[in-house]
Amino acid sequence: MRPDAADLPALRCAGLTKRYGNTVAVDHVDLEVPRGSLTALLGPSGCGKTTVLRLVAGLLDPDAGVIEIDGHVVTGPGVAVAPERRNVGMVFQDYALFPHLNVARNVAYGLRHLPRSERPARVASALSLVGLETLGQRLPTELSGGQQQRVALARALAPGPDLILLDEPFSNLDASLRATVREEVRTILRAAEQTAVFVTHDQEEALSLADLVAVMDQGRIHQVATPQTLYTQPATRFVAEFVGEADVLPGSRAGRYLVDTPIGRLPTDRALRAGEVTVVVRPESLGLRPAEDGPGVVTALSYFGHDQLVTVEVEGGYRLRSRRGPGLDLARGDRVRLEVAGPVVAFDRHGDHADEAAPAPDRPPSSSEDVHA
Ligand SMILES: Nc1ncnc2c1ncn2[C@@H]1O[C@H](COP(=O)(O)OP(=O)(O)O)[C@@H](O)[C@H]1O
Ligand SMILES: [Mg+2]
Repeated sequence: MRPDAADLPALRCAGLTKRYGNTVAVDHVDLEVPRGSLTALLGPSGCGKTTVLRLVAGLLDPDAGVIEIDGHVVTGPGVAVAPERRNVGMVFQDYALFPHLNVARNVAYGLRHLPRSERPARVASALSLVGLETLGQRLPTELSGGQQQRVALARALAPGPDLILLDEPFSNLDASLRATVREEVRTILRAAEQTAVFVTHDQEEALSLADLVAVMDQGRIHQVATPQTLYTQPATRFVAEFVGEADVLPGSRAGRYLVDTPIGRLPTDRALRAGEVTVVVRPESLGLRPAEDGPGVVTALSYFGHDQLVTVEVEGGYRLRSRRGPGLDLARGDRVRLEVAGPVVAFDRHGDHADEAAPAPDRPPSSSEDVHA
């Protein structure tokens, strides 16, 4: 680390762009990863997550943009620091362990730059960090998936990198193992005070593990925020629908903080620009009450014990889900009244936040409009 680097982000990408023919795999990505944080890069398959990691690791050259690690430019105009000189550790999706080398020698592989005499102590300390100190002589095939994962992590940690990059680190594990291994990996990274970026398409994984989540779609980053902010203040409709459960309704502005929707007039979280919007309703914020003259009809009900998910259809064919406690007071076909707790988030037709502060991309607000309606 540079002596004056304490306040600098561990990783900074600016305007990072990578094209494959006509595909823009990574499109002007700006990202700052604070030192010591666990940051998730979250997005659907094919959105460019692996490409970002490979660019940061130096395994790929971008078409444009700058990458700084600990304040040093490693990629930029006229600069392309070799991968092995970036001080970045990588854990690949398939772990990429050498099958013919035992665990200790796999871990030692990342230490080839060190004098031979220093390597055993570093291997032992990395293996102890991941709780595999007794398994150094085993071959990768003699380990469970979770243990192989920890060997890959030990190999990446052993050289003491500034940054570790993990590509879909949990996707090869059985669902039954995944939650435990996630927690283990988080504990190990925290114990090592290791800055790490992990890629995932699983929103639950990103929300539950990361300090910061960068949501990506079609090569672009939509929002970088804490899990709580992403969930409660999604910046775009894509984020709202990709992160957590969300149902959408059309709406039209009825006042600065009011929107008319098929389920009535609702308050919004921010002052609205004029016009037609889409509002997002989360299942846990939708309350239902049995009412013979209610505007909704229960069309489906999934009972989970600790809670239940009830689907309601309202006029116009719009469907909304409500997550409710275990008490069973509704059945299919029942009529209900709907009540949304708290304000809703509204998006414009481009999927951007429809608040007053955001610039309308191609439609300036009309000056004759009564903004205090
Ligand atoms: N070597 C390559 N050649 C051509 N297209 C590629 C290559 N690698 C990735 N792509 C394309 O770039 C886009 C992003 O890919 P990737 O970064 O692997 O996405 P993710 O990891 O989010 O699933 C996809 O459309 C993919 O098909
Ligand atoms: Mg990928």
